[in-house]
Amino acid sequence: MAKARTRYLCSDCGTSTAQWVGKCPGCKAWNSLKEETITDSGKRAHRYSTASPQGGVLTQKARPLAEVTIENIMRLSSGEAELDRVLGGGVVPGSLILLGGEPGIGKSTLMLQVAMMVSASGAKVLYVSGEESPEQVRMRAQRIGAVPKSLMVLPETRVPMVLNALQEDQFSLLVVDSVQTLDQPEVDGAPGSVSQIRESVAAITAYAKSFALPVFLVGHITKEGSLAGPKVLEHMVDVVLQFEGDRNHAYRMLRAAKNRFGTTSELGIYEMMGDGLKAVENPSEVLLGEAGEASSGSAISVALEGARPLLVEMQALVSTAVYGTPQRSGTGFDLRRLNMLLAVLEKRCGFKLGSFDVFLNLAGGLKISDPANDLAVVAAILSSSLDLPLDRDTCFAGEVGLSGEIRPVARLDERMSEAARLGMKRMLVSGHGKRPPTPKGLTLVPIKRVSEIQRVIF
Ligand code: TYD
Ligand code: MG
Repeated sequence: MAKARTRYLCSDCGTSTAQWVGKCPGCKAWNSLKEETITDSGKRAHRYSTASPQGGVLTQKARPLAEVTIENIMRLSSGEAELDRVLGGGVVPGSLILLGGEPGIGKSTLMLQVAMMVSASGAKVLYVSGEESPEQVRMRAQRIGAVPKSLMVLPETRVPMVLNALQEDQFSLLVVDSVQTLDQPEVDGAPGSVSQIRESVAAITAYAKSFALPVFLVGHITKEGSLAGPKVLEHMVDVVLQFEGDRNHAYRMLRAAKNRFGTTSELGIYEMMGDGLKAVENPSEVLLGEAGEASSGSAISVALEGARPLLVEMQALVSTAVYGTPQRSGTGFDLRRLNMLLAVLEKRCGFKLGSFDVFLNLAGGLKISDPANDLAVVAAILSSSLDLPLDRDTCFAGEVGLSGEIRPVARLDERMSEAARLGMKRMLVSGHGKRPPTPKGLTLVPIKRVSEIQRVIF
């Protein structure tokens, strides 16, 4: 019998050591090494044989790059326009797409929706559910819509069984919910462990690549917000998608953290409804529609998320601090940036906010980290502390520098068109740099320093 040994694997980078150490020698992470048993029985040998166990050809000959043709690479539509856009125009055959997100955000719902859309045209789709029973999946599908005949569900966690099921039929798409439940019997360790995830995904990758089968993998994330499991997982797959949002809000954002077939700047916005996820076509309208009438402390920012201009409402509340140390909190906005803006307001505008609590909220539960939001944040803070509402048809796009200067922002023309489209009349922008022609109905108000804002907006 093969001798069992133990080794330690880093859950971040996959480095293996013979002994436990507190700090990973590979990625220098603390406390990331986990013990795993290995039984040596020469199982790696089959990987070097010329044919894969499934019959596909794994060996390739070197050939001139110029002779590699790309015309016949077709992208399949996932049936979800937003998802297709985030992927860069559809699903590439043979690609592995990892979808990560917090529990309850809607990963399984999105995957089932995609599976239903693809199979609605008659294409066979295999939905491997390691977390839910077929009955649970059916119940969910019932909420979403008509269940196509060619959608197959397989409650299975063992990788060889999944591969067997794939061989029984010609599938056009495989969905695995989730990678953390996958179990590769020839590898030691419990499902979800570093080596299990790595080997399971490697086996599926080998199959997918040799049969040009697109695969969606659902991945859990840790409480720190990174994908659970080894970092190598993210290296192994072609696309890493993040599904984020606030569970208490209906809106969800889908973006690519890595994409071998397109940009990572596209953004998809979904709303969770009673019958599944619905793409939000005009996010600005929806987000502004929630705003209601003008009140102090609210300013509209023309942000750019990925390649998409979005009008979002920034809400600030400035109130006297009653408990000693003033509080600062930002939802959907970086707290350090908020503190920086407050310091700039104090130093460059003489606004003393040191004894006030400052709260900042991005409406809709979205998280947007565009520096162009600075100007709207400053305006919202001023508006709240002076208790003067701003016009509902004024919007902002500018970055605030440490010396109080307003810096120009990227792609102003796209932001302006979006603002004009939504009926904005005035847009405060940086007075520095070039400004493209203004669309009809919109007036640009260039300002050079934060100290000018007050004069212009009230
Ligand atoms: P789920 O897809 O199970 O999340 P995840 O797989 O990321 O853990 O769904 C999350 C929530 O969505 C769940 O609490 C119920 C809700 N939901 C709806 O509001 N409408 C629906 O049509 C469906 C299917 C789910
Ligand atoms: Mg789920």
